[in-house]
Amino acid sequence: MKAFTKSKYGGPEILQLEEVEKPILKDDHILVKVVANSANPADLHILRGKPFFARFAFGLFKPKYKILGADFAGVVEEIGNNVSHIKVGDRVFGDTLNGGAFAEYTCVPEKVCAIMPKEMDFPEMASVPIAGVTALQALITHGQLKVGDSVFINGASGGVGHFAVQIAKAYGAAVTAVCSSKNVDFVKTLGAERVIAYDRESIHQHDGKYDLVIDTHGNLSHKDFKRLGLRGVMVGFTTMGHMFSVLIQKAFSKFPLIQFTAEANTKDFETLATLIHNRKIKVHIDRTYPYYKIPEALDYIETMRTIGKVAMVWENMAAAEDINEKGTKC
Ligand SMILES: NC(=O)c1ccc[n+]([C@@H]2O[C@H](COP(=O)([O-])OP(=O)(O)OC[C@H]3O[C@@H](n4cnc5c(N)ncnc54)[C@H](OP(=O)(O)O)[C@@H]3O)[C@@H](O)[C@H]2O)c1
Repeated sequence: MKAFTKSKYGGPEILQLEEVEKPILKDDHILVKVVANSANPADLHILRGKPFFARFAFGLFKPKYKILGADFAGVVEEIGNNVSHIKVGDRVFGDTLNGGAFAEYTCVPEKVCAIMPKEMDFPEMASVPIAGVTALQALITHGQLKVGDSVFINGASGGVGHFAVQIAKAYGAAVTAVCSSKNVDFVKTLGAERVIAYDRESIHQHDGKYDLVIDTHGNLSHKDFKRLGLRGVMVGFTTMGHMFSVLIQKAFSKFPLIQFTAEANTKDFETLATLIHNRKIKVHIDRTYPYYKIPEALDYIETMRTIGKVAMVWENMAAAEDINEKGTKC
């Protein structure tokens, strides 16, 4: 099968598209014929081995896992002996942080997958796993969002942010969102009551007060969190120095601030699938690339200018080669 492999740390240019053995099925795993993937900043952290602490999980001197890729959607081709809920032929989506998804086939534990809503297509559902589950867990699991809460979402136009605005609305919150001025209209269409353009108004001086502050971009200081919210959740980070500074101040403060790493699981994926099926969440795809341009998709993600998500397809390549809705040829 074809797969994007890596044998050293580096940028998207070091990825090799090569023929490798199809993965061998394990008892609690499913073998999926991949139809679409999406790109995430996490793919770049793993590819580059940066920040350095990622290497303790992914290989200190060289990558432990050969094939890159986390988010996928596809069709189940085989199931392991212990698989109980998923059948051969099911259309599934999921994520595998250990890699293996940027390939024609991926073999993943059943517990990191869920069945796709019938009406959804593969690129849309491949765009959901990491960004969707991160937004859900930031708001609900860690943010303890309640009906009627006011939420401040910094970094509202990207993958995590665009899901976070819609999920917060679906759970009955009032949303104030932050993005660049060019994306204000887009974020309003997601349902935010108020949108602040950070290039017109400094959020570091913004004097609103909210029940919950979610920082997907990662440039809020500890002081910002305390000034803006009653509780906070850190999702992204801009620099390691900034993140450590916030975490050190958190250690000496009573302000309830949580920093977390999202965990893929079937239950949360099913919640997202239901929200999508009930039209509470619309997946916005900024660009779609054919699979052989996965390194270009990662280059684009690295600009941190994505509006919603970037998808890559292994089938129906003609669609991905077409001028996409933003007029960009991928
Ligand atoms: N904790 C976890 O488990 C977890 C999971 C997933 C992702 N993350 C992290 O969360 C972050 C976001 O991930 P993502 O997938 O949403 O990335 P993404 O899709 O690439 O989104 C990037 C967004 O950042 C926004 N942005 C850039 N500069 C900004 C600024 N100064 N202020 C506010 N927003 C700004 C951009 O919006 P504009 O163009 O409108 O500025 C863009 O839409 C990344 O750092 C990622 O590593 C953490």
